[in-house]
Amino acid sequence: MEKTIAILPGDGIGPEVTAAAVKVLRTIAMRYGHSFTMKEADIGGAAIDRYGEPLPDETITACEQSDAILLGAVGGPKWDKNPADKRPEKGLLGIRKHFDLYANIRPVKAFPSLLSSSPLKKEVAENVDMVILRELTGGLYFGEPKRRNERSAIDTLVYTKEEIKRIVTQAFEIARTRRGKVTSVDKANVLETSKLWRQVVEEVREGYPDVDVDHLYVDAAAMKLITEPSTFDVIVTENMFGDILSDEASVITGSLGMLPSASVRADGFGLYEPVHGSAPDLAGENKANPSAAILSAAMMLRHSFGFHTEASAIEEAVKSVLEDGYGTGDVCGGDKQVVSTTRFAEKVIEEIEREFVSDHIMLSYV
Ligand code: IPM
Ligand code: MN
Repeated sequence: MEKTIAILPGDGIGPEVTAAAVKVLRTIAMRYGHSFTMKEADIGGAAIDRYGEPLPDETITACEQSDAILLGAVGGPKWDKNPADKRPEKGLLGIRKHFDLYANIRPVKAFPSLLSSSPLKKEVAENVDMVILRELTGGLYFGEPKRRNERSAIDTLVYTKEEIKRIVTQAFEIARTRRGKVTSVDKANVLETSKLWRQVVEEVREGYPDVDVDHLYVDAAAMKLITEPSTFDVIVTENMFGDILSDEASVITGSLGMLPSASVRADGFGLYEPVHGSAPDLAGENKANPSAAILSAAMMLRHSFGFHTEASAIEEAVKSVLEDGYGTGDVCGGDKQVVSTTRFAEKVIEEIEREFVSDHIMLSYV
């Protein structure tokens, strides 16, 4: 099939890890008979440097003309002192809002070969397999009024019932394809928005009698993520809580460098990006772990294009390369061989080719 993909490398290690993911996508296209047209555009600090703003019209147009977006990372010390609307992060928030990408899917799954890098005991971290579903276009990030002067500042936490309902419904749908459990996280003992959130979860659950539901306050959820992370299946929560909890959950598996994410809307269009940031200290050294970007490309194939076999091929390949003892510096405990970003991507590509050939030899025998 023919697909157009907007590639937004962004800042810091973003260009290196997206280049690795693009190579993997080219291999998939060649092997599985697809044609991917990749259109590169600027976002974040790179766009500020070239166009004077973090999300130029050219970038929005390139994304509008595409079937999905693959993004690297935005931000860095160079732009830290810029005024609020000229900060790289504004580009990311702007693109989420522009395309109404309200559902942020962050899977957190332990890779057995990386458990020694987890800050938690092996017994606690093993078997972790959850999806954090974060509402991405509402709440404190976008609520109005939002302003600051010398003496005071205000942000607004607002949610409509419709905004809550669409993300909560998606959580139930995802839970049905997994272990059938939704944990809704809120602060309903204090916040009005959380009381509405909880009420909507109770309404939506009526349509999903096969799914178990529990409600946790966000402080308790933060604690349980560390003490009993393997008990979670699908966590659904509002924008700010989801931002915080997903960073907390991400390190359990050993490295932030492994985790992909998808930000999608109802029709399947989406933006795919690593959970990690731009890591300016690593930039330009060919040392960053490209796994999260490569796995984000796999999520894109699965969620936006419905290419399940191709997505699994990528996921299996990344797992095999790690199991074979190769890794970038962040995932290299003990006996692993440290390789560069580009070498790791080559290893993944070799593995995809190897799997493809062995699958097709098997097929020709049946
Ligand atoms: C994330 C990031 C962003 C967020 C920043 C860069 C605006 O932390 O994707 O989690 O807070 O959503
Ligand atoms: Mn974050």
